[in-house]
Amino acid sequence: MIWRFAAGLAHCLPPEAAHRAAVATLRRKIGPKPALPSRPVTVAGLHFDNPIGLAAGFDKNAECADGALRLGFGHVELGTVTPLPQPGNPRPRVFRLPEDGAVINRYGFNSRGMDVAAGNLTARQRGQHQTGIVGINVGANKTSEEPTDDYRKAVGRLASYADYVTLNISSPNTPGLRDLQTDANLQNLIAAGREGLEAAGCERPLFVKLAPDLEPGDIEAICARAMTEGIDGLIATNTTISRPDSLRSAHQGESGGLSGAPLFEKSTRVLAMMYGHLGDNGPALIGAGGVANGWQAYAKILAGASLVQLYSALALQGPELPGRVVRELDLLLGADGVMDIAAARGQIPDADRAIQHALHLAQSAGLQD
Ligand SMILES: Cc1cc2nc3c(=O)[nH]c(=O)nc-3n(C[C@H](O)[C@H](O)[C@H](O)COP(=O)(O)O)c2cc1C
Repeated sequence: MIWRFAAGLAHCLPPEAAHRAAVATLRRKIGPKPALPSRPVTVAGLHFDNPIGLAAGFDKNAECADGALRLGFGHVELGTVTPLPQPGNPRPRVFRLPEDGAVINRYGFNSRGMDVAAGNLTARQRGQHQTGIVGINVGANKTSEEPTDDYRKAVGRLASYADYVTLNISSPNTPGLRDLQTDANLQNLIAAGREGLEAAGCERPLFVKLAPDLEPGDIEAICARAMTEGIDGLIATNTTISRPDSLRSAHQGESGGLSGAPLFEKSTRVLAMMYGHLGDNGPALIGAGGVANGWQAYAKILAGASLVQLYSALALQGPELPGRVVRELDLLLGADGVMDIAAARGQIPDADRAIQHALHLAQSAGLQD
């Protein structure tokens, strides 16, 4: 109740101020700490207590990983961190679309840079008893002459602090960044990521985060490249530059990446398409885009995801959301008689059917709100 009240108060603030307040609150480890059912899953050799994670973009400077994990997430992905500090785009640069359950942002990688993030993570390591998986998501500076080099540098500087590393090549707010998704560039990018890991002197699973606006041919080429290069995970997806006709909110015309409810189906289709190319033996799939409850998380798992990430629903609904998603997912797995996440993964590899199945199950279980 109190957390719902706090979330309501946060909505009286402009979105970026509310975001800053939320990070400051979690840095002090203030927030609900729900007791949750364990739904463990192992991905890329890492043990996750549950498959629900906080997507990148919330904790851009690696300030509040443990506060976010306490909310019930099995993992948090920090960043995007760029090698050098940069201010990002002029404000305002993030907008709530409440009628659509959506957010539009054009932050443009506002980052205090990799040295500040490393400092924050050093302080964290000195703290006591850490649980939960922490990933670090890295990107290129806007003015970089050689963006691929930026990934090498940021991975080299930060990998040792993280359980896994994500190369983010899908933000729509850094000009040219998404061109790194083309096959020739992707090969160089992955090589740079590996060189960064070598420079850091540590082995870490390498994930690549992709856009939802890719053509089917691009998706196939990316999957083939990820297979041959031995990438550990693909995150599907980042925000979209598309604007569905269904949008109703005043801010629908703002430029930037759209996330939240209107991205759910689109990102789940991209995920299912990837699973179709990769099957069970390729890189793990991490589903992100529009997840706001247990059945949506379950739909992504049925469509091929081993892990699920969310961000917009947390911003719109408040800190009790992750616990609710984990509890609902647990109920749905039970209702379907599925042993565990691994057994559910990819069981309905068609996005529309996976969504229908999960939604009907939630309705029968009285979970659909
Ligand atoms: C305000 C905001 C900032 C974001 N910043 C980043 C970022 O820095 N790096 C990144 O990889 N993704 C970023 N994202 C994308 C999210 O990680 C996620 O992939 C996307 O929003 C879809 O999930 P959602 O619908 O649950 O929000 C951002 C999203 C939002 C809403």
